[in-house]
Amino acid sequence: MLGRELVRRLQDQAEVRVLTRRPPRGPGFVQGDLETGDGLTAAVQGVDAIAHCASAADYRRPQRDVIQLRQLLDAVGSARPHLAYISIVGVDRASVGFFRAKLEAERVVEASGLPWTVLRATEFHDLLLMFLMRLAKGPIAVVPRGSFFQPVDVGAVADRMANLVMAPPAGRVRDLGGPRVEAMEDLMRAYLAAANRRRRVVKIPVPGRLGAGLGLGEHLLTDGDRGSVTFDEYLRSRANVHGVIEDPYAH
Ligand SMILES: NC(=O)c1ccc[n+]([C@@H]2O[C@H](COP(=O)([O-])OP(=O)(O)OC[C@H]3O[C@@H](n4cnc5c(N)ncnc54)[C@H](OP(=O)(O)O)[C@@H]3O)[C@@H](O)[C@H]2O)c1
Repeated sequence: MLGRELVRRLQDQAEVRVLTRRPPRGPGFVQGDLETGDGLTAAVQGVDAIAHCASAADYRRPQRDVIQLRQLLDAVGSARPHLAYISIVGVDRASVGFFRAKLEAERVVEASGLPWTVLRATEFHDLLLMFLMRLAKGPIAVVPRGSFFQPVDVGAVADRMANLVMAPPAGRVRDLGGPRVEAMEDLMRAYLAAANRRRRVVKIPVPGRLGAGLGLGEHLLTDGDRGSVTFDEYLRSRANVHGVIEDPYAH
């Protein structure tokens, strides 16, 4: 999601090489895999900067992202490109495994010996939409009770990342989040209305650390910059001519 938007923004400003596990889609694409290490040396050879936007997005084994980052650093070897890394707002506050692994990845970046930049962003609109669609699959729509999100437009994150990766290394920069903090039930109602679907919205308690963290808002901006696109505006832009909204992560 982010990588694609970032590449669009960088192509006019730089010679861009894109690491992907898929067959190359054109010039500049390098097929490789952060899990196995295949293709990484070719991908990073001679580059001035790396924007690391890949993630296994594996909530059961979040350590995979840390292992993959180490593979990337191994491939860089003794070269010293600028490493720009995208992280998540609140990784130092929330204690769920995925956030803890993300914080560990930040620390690996900082200790890498490379010049580095880390940007933390809140959840993208697209991710929230994917969650909402899954939560509304059945006859009722369920949402975690007492949870709030501050979704941000991926375009705003890509704009910021593009500027950061082209600029000198800046360390940890100001966090970036969405314009509004919104209750999950309101986001669900907005989605159902935009998709013209009728569902009763049922709030369910989420047990454990995840539920507690969601209630405390550990993943919301405390200080930082805000994008301008609201979730409602995003939803309108996602509906096709038939009013159908598709899962943005289904590819
Ligand atoms: N989504 C959010 O709400 C959010 C919020 C804040 C921060 N972030 C961070 O932003 C980053 C990007 O998130 P996203 O939502 O854009 O993720 P995404 O759409 O799931 O994209 C991640 C990409 O990583 C690549 N990838 C995965 N495994 C790989 C592997 N083994 N080797 C090489 N490439 C691999 C894949 O590209 P190919 O399919 O082309 O191989 C995949 O499309 C992540 O680090 C995430 O933690 C996300």
